[in-house]
Amino acid sequence: MWYSLQWAEFKAILEEDCILMNIAVIGTGYVGLITAAGLAEIGHRVIGVDDDARKIELLNRGGMPFYEPILGDLVKRNQQAKRLEFNSQIEDAVAKCQVIFICVGTPPLESGEADLSSVELVARRISEHARGYRLVIEKSTVPVQTGRRLQKHFCIYRSNSQFQCDVASNPEFLREGSGVEDFFHPDRIVVGVDSERAAGLLEEIYRPVLEQSFACPVHENCHNSPRVPFVVTDINSAELIKHASNSFLAMKISFINMIADLCEAVGADAGKVAEAVGMDKRIGGSFLRPGVGFGGSCFPKDLQAFVRVGQNAGCDFTLLREVERINQSRIDLFVKKVKEELWVVRGKRIGVWGLAFKPRTDDVRSSPSLAVIRRLLAEGALVRAHDPQAMEKAKAELPEIEYCADAYAAAEGAEAVLVLTEWEEFLRLDWAKVRQIMARPLILDGRNMFSRATMAGHGFEYVDIGSGSPARERLPDPKTV
Ligand code: UGA
Repeated sequence: MWYSLQWAEFKAILEEDCILMNIAVIGTGYVGLITAAGLAEIGHRVIGVDDDARKIELLNRGGMPFYEPILGDLVKRNQQAKRLEFNSQIEDAVAKCQVIFICVGTPPLESGEADLSSVELVARRISEHARGYRLVIEKSTVPVQTGRRLQKHFCIYRSNSQFQCDVASNPEFLREGSGVEDFFHPDRIVVGVDSERAAGLLEEIYRPVLEQSFACPVHENCHNSPRVPFVVTDINSAELIKHASNSFLAMKISFINMIADLCEAVGADAGKVAEAVGMDKRIGGSFLRPGVGFGGSCFPKDLQAFVRVGQNAGCDFTLLREVERINQSRIDLFVKKVKEELWVVRGKRIGVWGLAFKPRTDDVRSSPSLAVIRRLLAEGALVRAHDPQAMEKAKAELPEIEYCADAYAAAEGAEAVLVLTEWEEFLRLDWAKVRQIMARPLILDGRNMFSRATMAGHGFEYVDIGSGSPARERLPDPKTV
């Protein structure tokens, strides 16, 4: 019954057996599953919980609910080592674990605000079933002051006098497609706490990652990585750091896309501009790739939620509204480019390479690719698409297009191929073959993944984002021929 211990007794055990803890991770989406597997890998005993019983069954059968590099092996290895188990009974995990990470979804409401009903439901279950001391950590992306609400909730609803808890915020910064790498080698670990006890426990939980002292499941020979910064702050600030980070990254993308528009209008090269601007260490070169814009389950939703947070607090967040507007206009501008090239779209066969919102994931949530395809279908185009991982998920959203087994099949007979996700395997295509099977050798690259000179060398008409110089010799003016 060590899980019904009060703090002082729990602390005594920790001092003897310092690293190992029983941890419940509630929610097995991208953040929850990677967190659960990562914590198990560094030595903790973890129970991953999800109320979707089919997902739990799948995980217990050795399956994965989504594609994420390395994660499948990590989950399997820790299940076999009995450090990681999955369960759909939250009561059981809450009763057994002193540390509880909340990793449930916070989808947008119609107003743009985050829907916190799943977070509240988990809080209810915790207050019903916990005995003794608990550290409750919010990892779901939540608006500032959610931690405070949780604290109040636990004061009001705790069902027994033995339940005592700390609430902490520990925002997650992992990216889909490289989530496992980001768990083990984060730029920083941020914890928002209001007690030394909570800060100390979190430092203990993450010690192997902070010290980079684990056997790295991602790369060989990475033992000399420097200590990871551990940022301890109040709970409100930690919650805000997450929204501010995502909004800043989204702002960089919209900024460079705005510059790309100008480059096209005046005759400059957005790629070169971004490269040189990014060399300034104060700016940094990442997230300055022009393209069809950002998608996924985070940036679009977090921006909206953060705008609402600002608004509710009486602050002027117009800047972030513009970031969102610029991003949405990417789809119109790209479809306009397609129409400029093809003149009439109706009845024309168009190949699409890439459906996921970014490479190395099968996630199509708010994918710019699907938005472009929907617009082209509305104009009467015939779309044939290929994606190395995301076709199953795309089919559920867009059953009306033809899905192809490879990039060549999608290009066959096409008047144009649109590159909408920058999968590495598209770099290794046989260009002579692609050119030969297309009805017209025209590539519109929405991710700027190819070089103009190389594509011209392969005999393609090539249109990218943010190049002021003509993609090729334009059709001659009929008046001069
Ligand atoms: C993002 C953040 O990068 C993570 O730090 C954060 O933890 C995560 O959201 C989250 O809140 O959970 P993610 O959505 O996985 O991660 O993807 P990113 O790699 O950030 O890319 C987001 C979108 O921006 C993609 O559609 C990508 O194609 C686009 N992008 C990115 C650009 O258009 N240009 C760039 O230069 C970079």
